[in-house]
Amino acid sequence: MSDPSVLQGVPLPTNPLDADIEAVLISAEQIAAKTDELAARIDADYADREPVLVGVLKGAVMFMSDLSRALSRPSTMEFMAVSSYGSGTQSSGVVRILKDLDRDIAGEDVLIVEDIIDSGLTLSWLLKNLTSRNPASVEVVTLLRKPEAIKVDVPVKYVGFDIPREFVVGYGLDYAERYRNLPYIGRLRPAVYAG
Ligand code: PRP
Repeated sequence: MSDPSVLQGVPLPTNPLDADIEAVLISAEQIAAKTDELAARIDADYADREPVLVGVLKGAVMFMSDLSRALSRPSTMEFMAVSSYGSGTQSSGVVRILKDLDRDIAGEDVLIVEDIIDSGLTLSWLLKNLTSRNPASVEVVTLLRKPEAIKVDVPVKYVGFDIPREFVVGYGLDYAERYRNLPYIGRLRPAVYAG
């Protein structure tokens, strides 16, 4: 496995929050390679179309930013922020829009960009909501997917990594709003959320 502290031969900046990480599950280099692979598939599938990338804030910011730059064909960017009513770490499927798209997507080819699909409830709601706006097509790309999400009937065309049911942070994913800026995906030490 590649060194998680190095990206394409260049050492990554260290972060005091690295000490809270029990194990690196996906290194920055693995994320970059997978992003290029997904971008190549998307470029091929949208060879004659210009997708509207819809990033779901805040978790998807890093993936949205890297994926959009990895695409070699034209695309545009939109963002949505949604809040899921739920207890603690579990989402309930009841979703509220905090920030909506800035424009009409009727007739557009929408590609939802997610960092992680956990229960699949957020995405299930989002797919229904965006489909009701009459786009030409709606597809989903997610960097991470947990096995639980497979039980929910959400069609996800592009998946980066299937990961175990563990609490992960980094590369957009937070615990109490921290750790989003770590360049890799890691497992948090239980002492951090227990204490
Ligand atoms: C995360 C993630 C997905 C959602 C997935 O967002 O970015 O949008 O949860 O969970 P689900 O599949 O169980 O519905 P979160 O609500 O934590 O907000 P954030 O992106 O701002 O951290």
